[in-house]
Amino acid sequence: MKDDRMEKIISLCKRRGFLFQGSDIYGGLSGTWDFGPLGVQLKNTVKQEWWKMFVHERTDMYGVESAILMNSKVWGVSGHVKNFSDPLIDCKKCKRRFRADHVENNTCPECGAHDVTAARPFNMMFKTHAGPVEDAGSEVYLRPETAQGMFVNFKNIVDSAHPKLPFGIAQIGKAFRNEITPGNFIFRSREFEQMEIEYFIREKEWSALFEQWLSEMHRWISYIGLSKTHDREVAPDALAHYSKRTVDIDYEFPFGKEELYGIAYRTDFDLMNHREGSGVDISYIEEDGTKYIPHVIEPTFGVERTLLALLCDAYAEEQLEKDTRTVLRFKPHIAPVTVAVFPLVSNKEDIVKKAEEVAGLLRRDFRTAFDGIGNVGKRYRRQDEIGTPWCVTIDYDTLENSTVTVRDRDTMKQCRIAIGELSAYFS
Ligand code: GAP
Repeated sequence: MKDDRMEKIISLCKRRGFLFQGSDIYGGLSGTWDFGPLGVQLKNTVKQEWWKMFVHERTDMYGVESAILMNSKVWGVSGHVKNFSDPLIDCKKCKRRFRADHVENNTCPECGAHDVTAARPFNMMFKTHAGPVEDAGSEVYLRPETAQGMFVNFKNIVDSAHPKLPFGIAQIGKAFRNEITPGNFIFRSREFEQMEIEYFIREKEWSALFEQWLSEMHRWISYIGLSKTHDREVAPDALAHYSKRTVDIDYEFPFGKEELYGIAYRTDFDLMNHREGSGVDISYIEEDGTKYIPHVIEPTFGVERTLLALLCDAYAEEQLEKDTRTVLRFKPHIAPVTVAVFPLVSNKEDIVKKAEEVAGLLRRDFRTAFDGIGNVGKRYRRQDEIGTPWCVTIDYDTLENSTVTVRDRDTMKQCRIAIGELSAYFS
């Protein structure tokens, strides 16, 4: 049976304002996506929760936000100019281009012609010029990973924060890759965000710390409520040019098991190269005076892939007595709206006023929406579809005894709670 979950999720995302095709009214720009009100809220929540878990709640992590544009030497030294490429194949008949691993038996996946070129490397970095002169000297790249911004700031962090090894630098930010075939909604795009950690260590510690960080990544995965992930040891011949060991964490997307996150042991590859390339001594000095270049473990998380996995995991269709309801079962701390407040009727001024008052109260602590359109049943469905865990209805009894009806998204059960107890209940 064809799995049509992706089509349904994409349609829900557009209909309800999670995500839109980039430059939509101009026919779109392939591989770019715009986030609507619910999408940007979900994205910001994911980034804030990640920062809280991996930076705020630890004593060995230092946050940075480095510039997207970097000195071009960085990308030469890091190996990206030479190695950051995918094998590209052209169809001589329809002129379309494909990643070599998407072409089977020398047959064009688009037009079926058997007339395709041999594979050649295609560098995925976007190139542009900084300043008014467009020559080789002004060439810059849009960063393809946030990682290098952390390596080039290693010395700045050591000199300003004086951390003891092992310690990490964390960053959340945009990355750009000129993917040959972007696709599967936001899974593979040309502009996306990464949440990355460079955890600097002594060489002898790498194996134990690799396992520790892998389990930290699993802690994050269960904290945001994802299931259906699988660790995959990357084969030695498939490792990135900088890695000695990589484990990819795959997720069972509707289009197949694909990489969600990864963790790599990058050895001292990057810092060594930057020391050589910049000519600056970026060594770490131990208290006893021992001087060396630390090794690094890199846990990396894609923001958009997190959102896509969350949407796929949360999406459910439930057969009810009379119809089907669509529901996103986000965990409450992840859901873009935590509580929706309804006035039972919209034409009774005192009920609407009370509902606005309760919404105002909850808004201080929770992501709160207000909906007075249509009947309550329809409002429940609208909130189910965007994953709101609780709906609060203000009715005639509220005016008498200051209690409200709270309806639970998952059980659809309702209970009566005093307004003064709502905050504690949702917390
Ligand atoms: N610094 C290491 C690094 O960039 P990567 O496996 O190339 O490693 C890290 O990318 C993460 O970034 C991936 O696990 C994935 O979540 C995300 N990612 C990579 N390419 C992407 C793309 N084209 N669109 C969306 N997310 C992407």
